[in-house]
Amino acid sequence: MKSDTAKTAVLQEETRIFNTPQWIIEHSNSYQWMKNKGFKTENEMRKWCSDNYIEFWDEMARTFVDWFKPYTQILDDSEKPHYKWFTGGKVNVAYNAVDRHAHSEKRNKVAYYFVGEPVGDAKAITYYQLYREVNRLANALKSVGVEKGDRVVTYLPMIPEQPITMLACAKIGAIHTLVFSGFSSGGLASRVNDAEAKVVVTADGFYRRGKPLPLKPNVDEALKNSPSVKKVIVVKRTGVSVPMTEGRDVYYDDFVAGQSTKCETVPLDPEDRLFILYTSGTTGKPKGIEHAHGGYAVGAAQTTSWVLDVHDDDVYWCTADAGWITGHSYVIYGPLILGASSILYEGSPDFPDLGRWWSIIEEYGVSVFYSAPTAVRMFMKSGEEFVKKYDLSSIRILASVGEPLNPEAYMWFRKNIGSDQAPIMDTWWQTETGCHVVAPLAMTPEKPGSVCFPLPGMNTDIYDEDANSVPLGYGGNIVQTAPWPSMLRAFFRDEIRYKKEYWDMYWQVKPGTYLAGDKATRDKDGYWWIQGRIDDVLKVAGHRISNAEVESAAVSHPKVAEAAVIGEPDEVKGEKIVAFIILKEGVVEEESLKKDISTHVRKVLGPVAYPDKVYFVKDVPKTRSGKIMRRVIKAKALGKDTGDVSALSNPEAVSSIPQIN
Ligand code: PRX
Repeated sequence: MKSDTAKTAVLQEETRIFNTPQWIIEHSNSYQWMKNKGFKTENEMRKWCSDNYIEFWDEMARTFVDWFKPYTQILDDSEKPHYKWFTGGKVNVAYNAVDRHAHSEKRNKVAYYFVGEPVGDAKAITYYQLYREVNRLANALKSVGVEKGDRVVTYLPMIPEQPITMLACAKIGAIHTLVFSGFSSGGLASRVNDAEAKVVVTADGFYRRGKPLPLKPNVDEALKNSPSVKKVIVVKRTGVSVPMTEGRDVYYDDFVAGQSTKCETVPLDPEDRLFILYTSGTTGKPKGIEHAHGGYAVGAAQTTSWVLDVHDDDVYWCTADAGWITGHSYVIYGPLILGASSILYEGSPDFPDLGRWWSIIEEYGVSVFYSAPTAVRMFMKSGEEFVKKYDLSSIRILASVGEPLNPEAYMWFRKNIGSDQAPIMDTWWQTETGCHVVAPLAMTPEKPGSVCFPLPGMNTDIYDEDANSVPLGYGGNIVQTAPWPSMLRAFFRDEIRYKKEYWDMYWQVKPGTYLAGDKATRDKDGYWWIQGRIDDVLKVAGHRISNAEVESAAVSHPKVAEAAVIGEPDEVKGEKIVAFIILKEGVVEEESLKKDISTHVRKVLGPVAYPDKVYFVKDVPKTRSGKIMRRVIKAKALGKDTGDVSALSNPEAVSSIPQIN
């Protein structure tokens, strides 16, 4: 975990600066706040908000969230590293996201424009309609015994029942756990069992590239050994017939039939858990990140307003799947708390052709568009033909997340989607941080490829391994030196790992320093450049996947003895998965077996984890304690310097790794 203080990144040579048009700056929420407060410059404002972060977040909490009962303490840090925010108050995110709008002048405003993948399959859902549906489902969940603190897993495509289920859980104090529908039954089973879910909400199937695909069979497979699950609720999305287990499975429409459209929203302690979201870490076991109602609501709403600059009259679209943190914060909670109108799109970007997203932007007049580098690069590769067909002049703000938006992709995005004027909010953050941490604001002069600066209210720094802040021009570990409201609260039932992964690194020197797990550098002007993970976590098309998880999936193949997995740089996906496999004694190395192993991994973990390349090797380099040295394997495979390998237990294994590029 040594930070790289010797080299500066190539990206730092970027000299282009893009200034946002004045009208976009003046229209922006953050600029208006800055002017009202009398700050003269952006730097002055950012600094004041971070130096006075408790006062700042207090104001944000009052501005963006309604409290059933006001809090008496803003931050309680008496039990580090478990911080509590807004102590003494009572709150519920569902009240803020739905109830209050349904009883205001926003009642008939559209919350979601749902766009199904089949062309023409679309409907608008107002805040009032959303309120009624959430209430019906909340009542139905109560009727089967779901109580405060119980876990409800959703395994759903991007359809309205996804936000409805999340909000219904929040309303009654149940904890939702979304499992991305691209995961296979294995990924679903491990999450359902770890969370000990009482209920699973799923769909018969979903549409992908024009075809209805089944989803429910994965649930049946996953639940073979899940005694905690009492009910499976099945949304009819495609109408395909699916097996239903008597007594356990019920169709969604039947489940909510006859339920009242009124349901009390439970006033909760701000620290009561809103959701557990599993994410990949350094071991094969996904970790359940816990987020709390109060602080999370504040962070998600404030950044949707300040960074994404969503206004009341915007049509906003974040293309992320709700199953990831970006979907939680910026498809569901952030925009709903603000009472915004958003697009909820079910399908893929290229169906029926590569113009689908742009046609949606034109048709709905989308003005704020939040997507990911992997998508931008995919469109970039396929040319401008499909973009040019559509009028995208409604776009005012663009945003990106998940991995570095390289300068070429920045330029393409800005020119082709942003009419050469929209600023691009390249937002650095994580499942753990709950909301944006380092990002531009509309007023920030941008350098393509840089995430610019830590946001107001965040105390983000770059440390060397001795907890010194590195000087400009150098790199190191991204840290948070002070808590923030939407921070993770714990790992579900894994206190040791929570402390080890985030807090132990600097505890002796500076207790309470959060280690993010990413490296970054700052250039001479103070601009931040994200360098990637310090741990063994892959980023494939923006999805976070642990090397260890893919390795253990590969090893579960009957012919595989051992596996080592690395990421190879990929033009479009950022990284692609490469597996080095040691076969069991006596197994013959056949080409067809490579495909078989990849298919097996896909079956265990889902399509996101599919190894694009498989190589058979005799041995893999390891440390003396038996840990696979992925860094060394990667260097050898990519034809780079492997560095000093003398400390390995089997240095000769390095030569068995082939160069792959
Ligand atoms: O490595 C960073 C990368 O994504 C990681 C977090 O992944 P996840 O928890 O799945 O959340 C993704 C959406 C927030 C980070 O540790 N990452 C995220 N945003 C950026 C990024 N890398 C570079 N630039 C970004 N803007």
